Amino acid sequence: MRTLRHDSTERPPVWLLRQAGRYMPEYRAIREKVSFLELCRNSQLSAEVTVMAVDQLGVDAGIIFADILLPLDAMGVGLRFAAGDGPVIDRPVRLTSDVDSLQLFDPAEKISYVLEAIKQFKKAKPSCPLIGFAGAPFTLASYLIEGGSSRNFEKTKLFMHRESASFHKLMAYLAQITVAYLRAQHSAGADCLMLFDSWVGSLCREDYEEFVLPHSKTIFDGIKGAAPAIHFGTNTGGIIDLMATAGGDVLGLDWRVSLAQTWQSVPALHDRGLQGNLDPTLLFADIKLIEKRAQALLDSVAGKRGYIFNLGHGILPGTPVDNVKALVQFVQQYGNN
Ligand code: CP3
Repeated sequence: MRTLRHDSTERPPVWLLRQAGRYMPEYRAIREKVSFLELCRNSQLSAEVTVMAVDQLGVDAGIIFADILLPLDAMGVGLRFAAGDGPVIDRPVRLTSDVDSLQLFDPAEKISYVLEAIKQFKKAKPSCPLIGFAGAPFTLASYLIEGGSSRNFEKTKLFMHRESASFHKLMAYLAQITVAYLRAQHSAGADCLMLFDSWVGSLCREDYEEFVLPHSKTIFDGIKGAAPAIHFGTNTGGIIDLMATAGGDVLGLDWRVSLAQTWQSVPALHDRGLQGNLDPTLLFADIKLIEKRAQALLDSVAGKRGYIFNLGHGILPGTPVDNVKALVQFVQQYGNN
């Protein structure tokens, strides 16, 4: 929390994207009994999984166990997680009439189970900072329009270019719901709010500026003063200055760019913090190499305020748990030896 306020700290804080998930045997044991969506909708289990990750890894913050796609489920478009295929939307949004028929809803009512999980986490671990989160409008729209995950986002971009007014309407709708959802998470006890625009790096600058920036900005403006915010995306080297303009006290970077160089060379980042950015696949390598790369990253931003150590994207299934623990310990001992 001090880092988010740009106060000085003895070392950078560390938490990891997808710190609770399938790489953990204890998580897989729970998932043998309940589906992923059942787990998300079960506040007590979600809180337990969040606590489990914090306790096992000793990280400096928790991130509530949930998913960015849960609001889509509440919209009634039919969200499923198909084994091996990832998320599926049964009734995608592909026509202007689909956008016109979307109904506003109150996330505090329809996604109350996430809020309850936040309350239970904070009850169990009052002094551990907790990150609440939501998907950004572009990333959510891409799932709604494609009907699931995508490589090139052809349908999303075609809708954006051909039905621009309707695309803006969809983005504004998602932004409005997301502001309410994030504010509700903060009221429930989330100390920090994170916006995941995971796939926005697929856009050129012109499209980001015209179709995404105003809507992401609506969200950061809407949560200003509530809690500090982290703005995350991948493959964003070409648009990171525009993302900073949209908002966020801290911007998340992936491993495709040098974090220190980006911080120095992009003026829009000079008054912001940065989070990142080790390659998650590095965690499959030898601990010695993991430590060497972590050391280099920490050295590259030594003494800078507002830096949060993290991976550039989520921990992958199959990652050795011992390597994850070793990384966290290494960061926490940084500066002590
Ligand atoms: O510890 C944590 O990080 C908190 C939990 C969390 C999950 N999803 C749990 C999850 C968070 C923060 C997310 C965010 C999320 N979900 C994003 C943004 C971050 C990113 O990865 O870019 C996105 C794009 C999603 C959508 C999503 N959820 C996909 C594409 C998938 C399938 C692919 C995959 O990795 O399985 C999911 C499923 C999902 N979300 C799992 C978990 C633990 C795996 C589900 C399982 O148990 O089988």
